[in-house]
Amino acid sequence: MSEEQTTPKLYEPPEEFASNANVSDPAVYEEAERDYKSFWAERARELHWFREWDEVLQWNPPEAKWFVGGKTNVAYNCLDYQIEQGRGDKVALVWEGDEPSDGTTYTYSELLAEVEKFANVLKSLGAEKGKPVSIYLPMIPELPVAMLACARIGAPHSIVFGAFSASALRDRINDCEATILVTADAAPRGGRKTPLKQNADEALEDAPSIENVVVVRRTGDDVPMQDGRDRYYDELMADAEESCPAEEMDSEDLLFILYSSGSTGKPKGIVHTTGGYLTQVNATTKWTMDLKDEDVYWCTADIGWITGHSYLVYGPLSAGGTSVQFEGTPAYPASDRWWDVIEKHKVTILYTAPTAIRSFMKGGTEDLEKHDLSSLRLLGTVGEPINPRAWEWYHENVGGGRCPIVDTWWQTETGGHMITPLPGITPTKPGSATRPFPGIEAGLFDEEGNEIEGEGSGNLVIKKPWPGMLRTLYKDPERYRETYWEKYGDVYFVGDGARRDEDGYYWITGRIDDVMNVSGHRISTAEVESALVGHPAVAESAVIGRADEDKGQAIVAYVILEGDREGSDELIQELNGQVRKVIGAHARPQEIIFTPDLPKTRSGKIMRRILRGVAEGQQDLGDTSTLADPSVVDALKESRAAN
Ligand code: WT7
Repeated sequence: MSEEQTTPKLYEPPEEFASNANVSDPAVYEEAERDYKSFWAERARELHWFREWDEVLQWNPPEAKWFVGGKTNVAYNCLDYQIEQGRGDKVALVWEGDEPSDGTTYTYSELLAEVEKFANVLKSLGAEKGKPVSIYLPMIPELPVAMLACARIGAPHSIVFGAFSASALRDRINDCEATILVTADAAPRGGRKTPLKQNADEALEDAPSIENVVVVRRTGDDVPMQDGRDRYYDELMADAEESCPAEEMDSEDLLFILYSSGSTGKPKGIVHTTGGYLTQVNATTKWTMDLKDEDVYWCTADIGWITGHSYLVYGPLSAGGTSVQFEGTPAYPASDRWWDVIEKHKVTILYTAPTAIRSFMKGGTEDLEKHDLSSLRLLGTVGEPINPRAWEWYHENVGGGRCPIVDTWWQTETGGHMITPLPGITPTKPGSATRPFPGIEAGLFDEEGNEIEGEGSGNLVIKKPWPGMLRTLYKDPERYRETYWEKYGDVYFVGDGARRDEDGYYWITGRIDDVMNVSGHRISTAEVESALVGHPAVAESAVIGRADEDKGQAIVAYVILEGDREGSDELIQELNGQVRKVIGAHARPQEIIFTPDLPKTRSGKIMRRILRGVAEGQQDLGDTSTLADPSVVDALKESRAAN
C-alpha cells in the first residue's frame, strides 16, 4: 500500500498524445500474448540482419538463444543502417559538457566516421571478436564512440562507471581479463575533477591482463604515460585508417558485460548478447519512450549503468533518434541546470530517476519557473519505486500536466523495459509501473513456492524468456542458475516484491531483502517510506527493519524534512499517524530519526545496511567506501544520538 493507494487516481493517455503515438492499439497485448515468439520476431524484423535467423528461440532453461543462426551487428544498426535510411545528416548525439559553454553534436555520418576509426585503433592494439575491452571514461562522446567501435568489431565492452574507485576498476578488469583499457586524463563533473588516469594507474598495478591503455585528453591535465603501454586517443585517431567494415556477428555473440554491484561479495558480470538485446532495447525505445524522428530525447543516466547502455546509446541510436548526453550534475553551475539543458536543446522526452525528482522537489518550483519546458511531451522514470507524491510533482511541475509518465520497471539483468505503461495506450496510476510490456509475462509467488493468482502480493517472477534477458553471469554459469532460476523452478526470480491490484497493475515494493517482518506482518520499507513522504513535511525517507526481540523486526525511519522544517515530538506523532492512516497501525515506526542526509551509493541507491547498522548501534559499519559521501555516516550517528 502506498500513500494514495486507497484512491489511486487514473491518468488516461491524453487524446492528442495517443493519436500520434507509435503504438496506440491495445490489441498489441493480446497479439503478443497469443504468440510471444512471433511478436518478438516482428520486432526483430525492424532491425538490419545480414542473415535472418533459422529459429526465433531455443529455450533450455536457464539457457536462452534468441534468433538462432541470425547474423547482425549492433553498431551497423545504430549507424550505417540509419544512414541508409536517410539519417546521415541527422544529429545522432547532442553532447552537453559540464560547463554550459561546452558542447557539440555529431550527425550519424560523423559518428560513424569516428567509430570506424576507433574500431581500427582498437584492432591495431590487438582487439578482436570475443575479447573484452574495459572502458573507464567520463560522460564524453568518446564513450559511445568506444562502445560502438567495440560492437563493430565484436569485442565485448565492459564499462566501469567513472565514479568507481581504483580497486573496483581493478576487480572488474581482472574478472573479464581485458587486454585494453580506454580511459581519460580526468572526468570533470559539477566543477570538480575525478582523476581517472590516476585511478586507472593504481588499478593497473594489479591487473596483469591489460597490455594497452588509450587515454582521452578531456581536461588536458598532465598525467603520467607509461611507455609502450599508454597512448593518447587523439594521436591514435590521427593515424587511424578510415574504413572498418562491421563484423557479421552471430545473434548470440557477446555484446557486453556489465558488472552489477551485488549487495554482498563479488560483483556479478551480467552478460548480454547481440540480436535479442538489440531487439528489446529498440522495440521498447519506440514503444515505451515513443521515440520519433522529430524528438530530442534525454536520458539522464550515466552510460556506466545499464540505463545508459540501453536508453542513451543502443535504444535511441538503433531507432534513429537524437540522444542527449550530459556530462554534468543537476546543481552545477546552478540548481536550474537540467531545466536549462531542456530549454536549450528543446528536449521532448526526459527519462530520469525518482531520486532526482525528489531532490528537485526539495528545492521547490522556482528553478523550473525560470525556464520554458514546453518542448517536453513525455516523461519517464526508472530505478526505484516512485512515490505517488513525487510522481504527481513530476507530472505537474516538469510535465506541465500534459505529459504522460512511463514508470519503467526493469533491471540490469533484463536488458530493457519489462513492466511499463505504453504511453499512448495504458492509463497510469501514480506509483505503479502498470503492466508487463507486450510479450512479457510476469507473475507473483509466495515464499512457499505457490503462485498467487489475481490480486495479491508476493515475489515477482518472469515466466517466459525474453530477448534482452541476461544469458549468464560471466564465467559463472552456476551462480547464474542459483541466483535467478532455482527458487521457483523454470521462472526468472527477480528479487523484487510486488503487489498486483484489481486491474492487474503491478506495484513494485522494492527488493525482497528490504521487506520487513514485523510481528508476522510483512511490510515493505518502500511502503512505509512512501507513506512518510506523503506527509508535507517530509522530503525523503529511508526505512529499515531493526532486529527486535519482540517483533522480529522493528521499523526505524530516517527522515529528511522539507526546507527548514525542524523535527519535534509533535511531528513524530503526526508522522506515526500518517503511517497508520496510509498502511495501518502495525506499520508505525518504532523510531523516527530526523537526519540531514542519507547514505547513498554514487548511483543514488540508499545503503540500507548502513542505516541498519546505525540504528542497531553497531560500532563497525563494514565497508563504507562505496558511499558517494562517506561523511554522512557520522552525521547519521549524531542524528540518532540527538533523538
Ligand atoms: C532494481 C534494478 C533498471 C535500470 C536501473 C536500475 C529497482 C528499477 C524500477 C521501477 C520500482 C525499480 C528494482 C530492480 N527498480 N526500476 N520503475 N520501479 N523499482 O538497474 O541497478 O539493475 O536495479 O531497481 O528493485 O530490481 P539495477
